[in-house]
Amino acid sequence: MTTRLEMKSISIEFPGVKALNDVSFSTETGTTHALIGANGAGKSTLMKVLSGAYNHYTGDIYLDGKKVSIRSPKDAQNLGIQIVYQEVDTVLIPYLTVGENIMLNETVHDMGKKQFVSWKHIHEKATNILDSIHVTISSKTLVSELTLAEKQMVIIARSLVKQCKFLILDEPTAPLSHSETSELFRIVRDLKNRNVGIIFISHRLPELFEICDEITVMKNGEFVSKEKIAETSQNRVVEYMLGEKLEEQFPKYKVDIGSNVLEVKGLYDNGMIKNFSMHVNAGEIVGIAGLVGAGKSELCKAIFGASKVTAGEIKINGKKIRIKDPNQAVKHGLAFVPEERRKEGILVQETVATNLTAASLGRFSKFMSFLDFKSEKKVSNQMINNLGIKTPSEETRVQNLSGGNQQKVAIGKWLIADAQVYIFDEPTKGVDVGAKKDIFELISELAKRGKSIIYASCEFSEILGITDRVYVVYDGQVAKELATDSTNEEELLFYSTGGK
Ligand SMILES: Nc1ncnc2c1ncn2[C@@H]1O[C@H](COP(=O)(O)OP(=O)(O)OP(=O)(O)O)[C@@H](O)[C@H]1O
Ligand SMILES: [Mg+2]
Repeated sequence: MTTRLEMKSISIEFPGVKALNDVSFSTETGTTHALIGANGAGKSTLMKVLSGAYNHYTGDIYLDGKKVSIRSPKDAQNLGIQIVYQEVDTVLIPYLTVGENIMLNETVHDMGKKQFVSWKHIHEKATNILDSIHVTISSKTLVSELTLAEKQMVIIARSLVKQCKFLILDEPTAPLSHSETSELFRIVRDLKNRNVGIIFISHRLPELFEICDEITVMKNGEFVSKEKIAETSQNRVVEYMLGEKLEEQFPKYKVDIGSNVLEVKGLYDNGMIKNFSMHVNAGEIVGIAGLVGAGKSELCKAIFGASKVTAGEIKINGKKIRIKDPNQAVKHGLAFVPEERRKEGILVQETVATNLTAASLGRFSKFMSFLDFKSEKKVSNQMINNLGIKTPSEETRVQNLSGGNQQKVAIGKWLIADAQVYIFDEPTKGVDVGAKKDIFELISELAKRGKSIIYASCEFSEILGITDRVYVVYDGQVAKELATDSTNEEELLFYSTGGK
């Protein structure tokens, strides 16, 4: 039997933001429904309303035509609505086993009643649930030993303990590798066949078109369209979400490549990076291509002094330098946009302006420690415009921005800092297609100004679109150096999977 879910005229406001304006959304069990829209469009907020995270919204929610009241997470769960948030790491208890985590809510319940916990029962039930979605993780493994993808599966398993009619997945694939994504898709298909309704948020259009049956597009806190996947196209969806066609995805200027700026020779870190040598010239965009887990992030961190280097040398403009920590890296003209931006790249409690100018304080202090607030404001607003950061003002705290807009702040911070070498680690993760183009444009602009760029990514289409030269990384080593003009996705994939 199918159950129909309808949200009607949902509106919600936060200080200074009307996050949802009269939004309607509907789907049903046994359907996989995509939800898409630019960063800040209101996707997460709408799904938080559905899962009971807020009680100050207006509008109504219906199941099979019957009005229901969802004002707390418990309300939603009792109706069979479960959500998996993107921050997988924060919702599991690392020092408990998989089984204990899956059965967490039940355990507490049992304890109150019976004063003891039946471990056998917990592991049996957890194993049954894992089996039911064909996941082979042992119930007795400690959560701290799992990969991120496995943790995600544990959270999905946990949402299946109680009856689950609708499962919301908010950007589940952003941190996953290709094979982990296929595994997740298998689970999603399984659940769909068991008549669960899936709501799937992602900025990766191809995967939405692969896995979903229907798609709802949102823009600026409003509903734009709902269509069957089979009856629409990726171009049309992009046009709906941005309000315009996306012309050239990879703007790239013709740049005369200058002399050698950064040279890395025989670099080793504490285990992952082995004998890594590379160089970047002025005005050059150099790709570091590799699968998730190949060592790209470790390489970036090692160069930037964010991890321990055990051997090798780094030269800037022909001069050997020692980088013991990120502070020294910045002094030598390096800038780094890390992959784990929310953890390492920004201070979420601080304002947008403070974050944007944090890496370039020197430029904004007229005297020793007096900040020049006027120019801080001006430069911040310029960057807010350039990157299309959606925020009520430069004084808004970063924690109140949508996920993708937080990413843009982390990138903007280093674009303002005037560095010589820019290292970007997966800069487009979690940002919408329009903002991706803005980021590519700014990176091309930097190259045109003679800056040296390192661009690490597992998205080979981006590597091909934006770089001049590529180092393919496999198992912490350079597997192959290639000129971007004369290579293609197949060749990148060949070398990044260990091909010789
Ligand atoms: N708790 C909050 N306080 C203030 N503003 C908020 C809060 N939550 C969301 N907003 C604002 O509501 C708007 C919608 O945010 P939401 O997180 O729903 O966007 P999104 O579509 O999920 O974007 P993304 O693709 O970047 O994740 C944004 O402008 C955001 O800044
Ligand atoms: Mg979101």
